[in-house]
Amino acid sequence: MKEFEVKEIKSGWQDSSVANTYDNKRFTSISGRLSDWLDKRALRKSINSLPKSAKILDMPCGTGRMSHYLISLGYNRITCADISDDMIEVASTLLKPFQDVKFYNTDAEKTPFEEASFDAITSIRFMGHIPRDIRVDILKEMGRICRGNIIVEYPVTNSFTRLVKDVFKSFTVKKVLPAQWTWHYLSMKEAKQEIIEAGLTTKKVVRKLSFFSESAYFSITPNPTTTR
Ligand SMILES: C[S@@+](CC[C@H](N)C(=O)[O-])C[C@H]1O[C@@H](n2cnc3c(N)ncnc32)[C@H](O)[C@@H]1O
Repeated sequence: MKEFEVKEIKSGWQDSSVANTYDNKRFTSISGRLSDWLDKRALRKSINSLPKSAKILDMPCGTGRMSHYLISLGYNRITCADISDDMIEVASTLLKPFQDVKFYNTDAEKTPFEEASFDAITSIRFMGHIPRDIRVDILKEMGRICRGNIIVEYPVTNSFTRLVKDVFKSFTVKKVLPAQWTWHYLSMKEAKQEIIEAGLTTKKVVRKLSFFSESAYFSITPNPTTTR
């Protein structure tokens, strides 16, 4: 991926009109509401054994959609992190009633957090935007700052569906949309491989919707042998 495209992935979100219209554009139609509901169901299944006292980093938090859901499940030690002040501002408005939530503007590739500072990390609708090499660096950083469960959503698909999509996108999406909206699909095997490469172990995979969905929630833990 070209360097300017990588920059665009980060800078594209730093825009108040993108932040203020994000939830409305994605989650208010019938399919958007269904997708939001399925995201939350997959997250709930992925964290079902996590104690309510867990300290959780939601990164990237975006507009706070998943952080808010975690609070509704009874988790109240939430830290929200994102690279975009505009997205954080929307999240802080949504989460205003919950005084204990902390907000950080940070790049997921290199965060200010100390080693093993969180019991869990949730990272939803993020990896699909990120090219492979950077994904591995982000996973390594997550492995450094988390002592427990890292829940990462990956856009997984098989090679046939991917080929069809890539051909379709080469005529449409890539030509009209900025790089921040490009979606990097990968196979289940590739996702597991890059998790190993980052020194982490896949413990569980929850499909957003059995068979049909291209989204899978990976529960990942640091390898016991990984030196921090
Ligand atoms: C599609 S939104 C997902 C937000 C949220 N997790 C959700 O599911 O609604 C992607 C978010 O990633 C953030 N982002 C992009 N690159 C980032 C980076 N390198 N580090 C941290 N956040 C980043 C953007 O600012 C944006 O808020």
